[in-house]
Amino acid sequence: MGDTVCDIKVLYVSVDPLDESHFRILVDGKFVKYLTIDANLYSVDDMCFEPSLISILPPLPPGDWNTGRISRNCTNGLPHFSEVTKVELPSISHIWHPLQIDHLSLHMGRQLRSNVYEASTPQFDLPIVVKFAQLPYEIPYLESETSAYQWIQNHQISPRFLGHLTEEGRVIGFAMERITSARHAEPEDLALCEQALLTLHRLNIKHGDINKHNFLIHDDRATLIDFATAVQCNDAKVLEEEFRRLEKELTDTSGRGGCVIVESSSEKSDTSG
Ligand SMILES: Nc1ncnc2c1ncn2[C@@H]1O[C@H](COP(=O)(O)OP(=O)(O)OP(=O)(O)O)[C@@H](O)[C@H]1O
Ligand SMILES: [Mg+2]
Repeated sequence: MGDTVCDIKVLYVSVDPLDESHFRILVDGKFVKYLTIDANLYSVDDMCFEPSLISILPPLPPGDWNTGRISRNCTNGLPHFSEVTKVELPSISHIWHPLQIDHLSLHMGRQLRSNVYEASTPQFDLPIVVKFAQLPYEIPYLESETSAYQWIQNHQISPRFLGHLTEEGRVIGFAMERITSARHAEPEDLALCEQALLTLHRLNIKHGDINKHNFLIHDDRATLIDFATAVQCNDAKVLEEEFRRLEKELTDTSGRGGCVIVESSSEKSDTSG
C-alpha cells in the first residue's frame, strides 16, 4: 500500500555476479536514488539491461529517501525493499571554481570511461567532458582530482576546468573542456609529452599515472588529463623518476589506462577526438 508508479531511468550499473550490486537511478526526471540489490536475487543479464531491470524492480516506496536495499522477503521469497533511508551522501568539499553545473542540465553523450562522459549543456557553446562519482564511495578520487585542477589551472597543460558538477546540491565531480581531434600518445610523441610533464613537475606536482592514455595529442602539443592520483611533491628525485619512466610508459602495449567500460553496449572507443 502506498507504493508509487514512477518514471525510472537507470544512470549507472555496477553488477557483481557473486555479491551485492549497486545502481544509480533517476526517478521522475529529478531525484537520484542509490540502490543496492542483494546477491542472488536477479540474473546478471536482467540487472544489466535497463528495461529488464526496471520491469523486475519492486515498486519504489514513496517518501523522501535516497538509498535503498532490495532483498528477498523471507515470508514470500519475493524481492522487496528491505530498507530505504535518507542519507547525507558525501560531497566534494574543495570548491574553488565559481561555476556549479547541475547534472540534470547536461545532455550526456558518449561514455568514455565508467565515470567519464562527453556532454553538452546550454551553459557552454562547446562540447564538454564530465567526470564524476557514479557511486558515493568514488568521491575521494574526484576530490583529489578537483584540487589538482586548481593547482594547474592557467598553465596550459590540461583541459580547462569549467566548473563543479552537482547532484541535488552536493558536488560529485567536474566539467572540463573537451579536447577535440586528439589521440592518445605514442612513442614518437615523447618530446611533446615530456614538455607537458616537465611543466607539471616545475609546479612541484607528481602526476602519478603517466600512462599513454592520459596524454592527449593534438595541435602539435600534449595535454595531460586524469589527475586523480596527482600529489604535490617537493622531492626532485621522485619527480625525476616519474620523468624517466615516461618513455617506457609510451611504449607500453598492455592497454593499461585505455580500457573503456560501456554498460549495456558493445561500443568501444580508444580515442578522445
Ligand atoms: N577533456 C577531455 N577531452 C577529451 N577526451 C577526454 C577528456 N578527458 C578524458 N578524455 C578521454 O577519456 C579517457 C578517460 O579519462 P580519464 O583517464 O580521466 O578517466 P579515468 O576514469 O581516470 O580512466 P583510467 O582510470 O582508466 O585512467 C581518456 O583516456 C580520454 O580518452
Ligand atoms: Mg586515465
